[in-house]
Amino acid sequence: MVSYIPYKKAPLKYTGQIRLFDKQAFVGMRKACNLAAHCLDELTNIVKPGITTTEIDRFVFSFGADHGALPADLNYRGYMHSCCTSINHVVCHGIPDARILRDGDIINIDVTYILDGWHADTSRMYPVGKIKRAAARLMEVTHKCLMSGIAAVRPGVRTGAIGAAIQHSAEEERCSVVRDFCGHGVGQIFHDAPNILHYGSPDDGVQLYEGMIFTIEPMINLGKPGVKILNDGWTAVTRDRSLSAQYEHTLGVTATGCEIFTLSPKDLFFLHSVPR
Ligand code: MF3
Ligand code: CO
Ligand code: CO
Repeated sequence: MVSYIPYKKAPLKYTGQIRLFDKQAFVGMRKACNLAAHCLDELTNIVKPGITTTEIDRFVFSFGADHGALPADLNYRGYMHSCCTSINHVVCHGIPDARILRDGDIINIDVTYILDGWHADTSRMYPVGKIKRAAARLMEVTHKCLMSGIAAVRPGVRTGAIGAAIQHSAEEERCSVVRDFCGHGVGQIFHDAPNILHYGSPDDGVQLYEGMIFTIEPMINLGKPGVKILNDGWTAVTRDRSLSAQYEHTLGVTATGCEIFTLSPKDLFFLHSVPR
């Protein structure tokens, strides 16, 4: 049985209970999430053909340090980097390394900062130079998937309403939803209850209440939904090597809908790259 608990009464570790946050917590999340979104905005000028993903990783670490935040990724379950950089057919958890970004790549950068104990978790896609039409379309579909999931959020509906909206948005464009990863509760711990599946039916999952805070982070493939994990234990790639994209927001449930905490200060969350 699922249970809900005021966050101040819950221990600072995963218990499976769903935390309900107050105004004060929303203030903390707003601040942490704004910093992560600001970092992703700054990366818009850095992501170019010729740079390495290690350079991106260094920027994420030092930008956080300059603003009093630490990456939650660092030392998380043995992960040794400050962000994830997932290129082309990499679905998620790509590890920053000496790989040089090439013209035509698409890359997801996923940043999680801890600021004053509050965890911000957000990711976006960046086109590298001039990208192919199919890649631009996948990014557009994936962004639309995230936003349709967010539009379903309000007290009284189940988490399945989010998944159903995302699955519909993906499949109507003949794209597929990755099943192996999901959104998650977040706040004073990184990965908390509940899981937010990106597929399913409106009667699946648990009910949403005002004060819940979680991420929505659909991974959408141009081909089949299957993924495999590489020998590094982290990198998830599409089994059929088709392109994959992901966008992630952290949000809080309000009385009438939700507040997106990770909105881009410069309105750069979705970079329009489809020539039209
Ligand atoms: N930021 C990812 C998420 O959305 C998690 C990355 S965990 C790491 O949940 F260890 F790979 F960094
Ligand atoms: Co993330
Ligand atoms: Co997340």
